[in-house]
Amino acid sequence: MFRIALASGVSAALLHAGLAAGAPLDEPIKPIPASVPVDAAKVALGKLLFSEKRLSKDDSVSCQSCHLFDQGGAHPSKRPTGAGGAVHVVNSPTVFNAVFGFKQLWSGGVDSIEAVVERVVKAPRVFASNWGQVLGKLSQDGALVARFKSTYADGLTPANVANAIAEYNRALITPNARFDKYLRGDASAISADEKNGYALFKKYGCIACHQGVNVGGNMYQTFGVMGDYFKARGDVQEADLGLYNFTKKDADRHTFKVPSLRNVAQTAPYFHDGSAATLDEAVDVMFRFQLGRQASAKDRELIVKFLGTLTGELPQALK
Ligand code: HEC
Ligand code: HEC
Repeated sequence: MFRIALASGVSAALLHAGLAAGAPLDEPIKPIPASVPVDAAKVALGKLLFSEKRLSKDDSVSCQSCHLFDQGGAHPSKRPTGAGGAVHVVNSPTVFNAVFGFKQLWSGGVDSIEAVVERVVKAPRVFASNWGQVLGKLSQDGALVARFKSTYADGLTPANVANAIAEYNRALITPNARFDKYLRGDASAISADEKNGYALFKKYGCIACHQGVNVGGNMYQTFGVMGDYFKARGDVQEADLGLYNFTKKDADRHTFKVPSLRNVAQTAPYFHDGSAATLDEAVDVMFRFQLGRQASAKDRELIVKFLGTLTGELPQALK
């Protein structure tokens, strides 16, 4: 049932050497690499800024407030609370593995993590601030100013604040999920049920959208390919228009970036609207509105078990 292919000359060499590990599998999902190329000094500075509340208008929230490291990099509320107690219009996605996304945000409306930081600083429901206020506060902190001077030729600037935070965010990857060990050739890293769940994930066509290193994050799709999700849910909001809010093209209405399913067992609730409280519910919605079918309870259970194998190790950069 599982075709094992030699993915590279390295695996052939390993086999030749008679090592116990099997050959890497050639699958539409790829393992997260052990590391990504980042600048250590910028990562260290970005780490400080990730929990820096002075970035927000009333010094009440930091990046950390909505992206919790013990919640898969997401937030357990349906919609998180920003500066001044303002409630956001969408659910907090994970910040983990964002480096592998082809675009950022649920809608995929922006290209880089730097651009996300720019939005976060100004967004009325997030930091509700501006660069004048932010630099005004940070420039009074001699130690921080010195850190910027030693890290960037031009010291403390808006672009460098955004870059340092983004560089840290890029280092937040979660390698060595059990599924990745399986992909690398350890057949015993996942159970028989989990293997069957993966086979169903491919058979039903989840894989057509959720694939690659992030099991998502590499294409746009309409939410509601096989039925009108928004009509069924009701109370359509501006945030439900997805990519349309950025492009104003009719074809982009309700278009979203296919989200990553990495660590998805830890990131409830689900979807941009936070409408699915559990993975079971989320998978049912996917079957109905993306595939136009209904899964048996057994098949859904196996798929959810497979999704549990996508939980990786906490990023090294947190330590
Ligand atoms: C008030 C809660 C809140 C705070 C504070 C916050 N975020 Fe977010 N973050 C969100 C929400 C909600 C989204 C989704 C927004 C959207 O898609 O329009 C998001 C999206 C993101 C994404 C995109 C992830 C993806 O998969 O597309 C990244 C990266 C990110 N935030 C990083 C940060 C960083 C860095 C900071 C601090 C500078 C920060 N966030 C502060 C709530 C928050
Ligand atoms: C046609 C493309 C497509 C197919 C097929 C598809 N998905 Fe999705 N999936 C999406 C999109 C787009 C979203 C984001 C919807 C939103 O929140 O706006 C999503 C969201 C999800 C989420 C929620 C992730 C989160 O962090 O909130 C889960 C879980 C999920 N899909 C699992 C599956 C499973 C399991 C299947 C197969 C039964 C499947 N998907 C099939 C496109 C697809």
